[in-house]
Amino acid sequence: MVTYGDMENITLIATAKFGLEKIVKNELKALGFNQLAGGEGKVEFAATWRDVPRTNLWLRCADRVLLKMGEFTAVTFDELFEQTKAIPWEELIPVDGRFPISAKTVKSTLHSPRSCQAIVKKAVAERLQAAYGVEWLAETGPEYAIQASLVRDTAVLAIDTSGAGLHKRGYRADAGEAPLKETLAAGLVRLSSWRPEQLLIDPLCGSGTILIEAAMIARNIAPGLNRTFAAEAWPVIDPQLWQDARAAAQDAIDRNGRLHINGYDRDAASIAIAQSNAAKAGVADDITFAQKELKDLWIDRQYGVLISNPPYGRRLGGYKEINDLYLTLNKIFRKKKGWAVYILTADALFPRYFKRGKPDRVRKLYNGKIRVNYYQYHGER
Ligand SMILES: C[S@@+](CC[C@H](N)C(=O)[O-])C[C@H]1O[C@@H](n2cnc3c(N)ncnc32)[C@H](O)[C@@H]1O
Repeated sequence: MVTYGDMENITLIATAKFGLEKIVKNELKALGFNQLAGGEGKVEFAATWRDVPRTNLWLRCADRVLLKMGEFTAVTFDELFEQTKAIPWEELIPVDGRFPISAKTVKSTLHSPRSCQAIVKKAVAERLQAAYGVEWLAETGPEYAIQASLVRDTAVLAIDTSGAGLHKRGYRADAGEAPLKETLAAGLVRLSSWRPEQLLIDPLCGSGTILIEAAMIARNIAPGLNRTFAAEAWPVIDPQLWQDARAAAQDAIDRNGRLHINGYDRDAASIAIAQSNAAKAGVADDITFAQKELKDLWIDRQYGVLISNPPYGRRLGGYKEINDLYLTLNKIFRKKKGWAVYILTADALFPRYFKRGKPDRVRKLYNGKIRVNYYQYHGER
């Protein structure tokens, strides 16, 4: 196995859900990356080994960080096999490395993910066996999960550096009902106009994910500080690089100033979960949670920001109840024109009930596999 220098040039790919690619690009720019190539669901960028810890620790809205190993055209199984085998996998994967393969194909001649997966596995295995002079690969060591993606006959092979998806921040023990993924919750905050000095509320906060992500953004807490990553077990990356990135992230936390973040939910158990999650995330003192029915919410401020993800109806609760919720929201905020209101829902009828005006913007996003809209009402400045 080759040991690379810290500054060796590599190519990383941050994967993201549809609709969040631009936010991930902005996050990468903020981390100092300039040459960013975008595609659907991913952002590719030139990097060095030092950036593997940095991006994994800091990207809030990306799903994973992959190390790109190769890109080529493949329309036959032979081409896929030979070109996969031509990649020097042994420079990265040690003799005992585990290398599970996942494959996806979109609009490609090789349309069976299962066949592509089997071919890539065989090609990588043959390459490693020849490089190490062994007939058997035990696969008992660190994980190098290989993703093979074929889109319009172009194959991209990459190794997952993250391990568990980046939405797993390590603060969520209990999920509560229909929680949002942390990456999407952070995306909702980033797509909003909220600034840390402003009042922020989520009146249907469930386990509090949106507010916890907002507080972590405001406090500049790296989302990955409480977890580990697959590439930490890779001998090719100097452990010092991980230690340095963690120490820098620890130093970057900003505890100055007061935040004004409030979460409510009618369900006492959800509020208890939200409080416990906020404590684990290190933002317990920044968010006030209370059990409250939406109709009992009293807003006396003229300005503020609301970001929320009401029940969708098709997943939880009934339609009548959902309509009543929208009407209550409308009643509370119809005349509060200084409030920016951001609602994520799969229910296309929402704007019909929330009559403050037409949404300034409707963004298409995905909550897991459900197509949802993010209704944005900017409010008067
Ligand atoms: C889709 S969940 C929100 C999930 C949340 N974003 C999270 O990440 O955990 C909707 C929440 O609305 C709450 N809810 C429903 N009707 C309510 C009402 N009338 N008043 C207050 N909360 C309500 C439910 O208890 C549930 O926790």
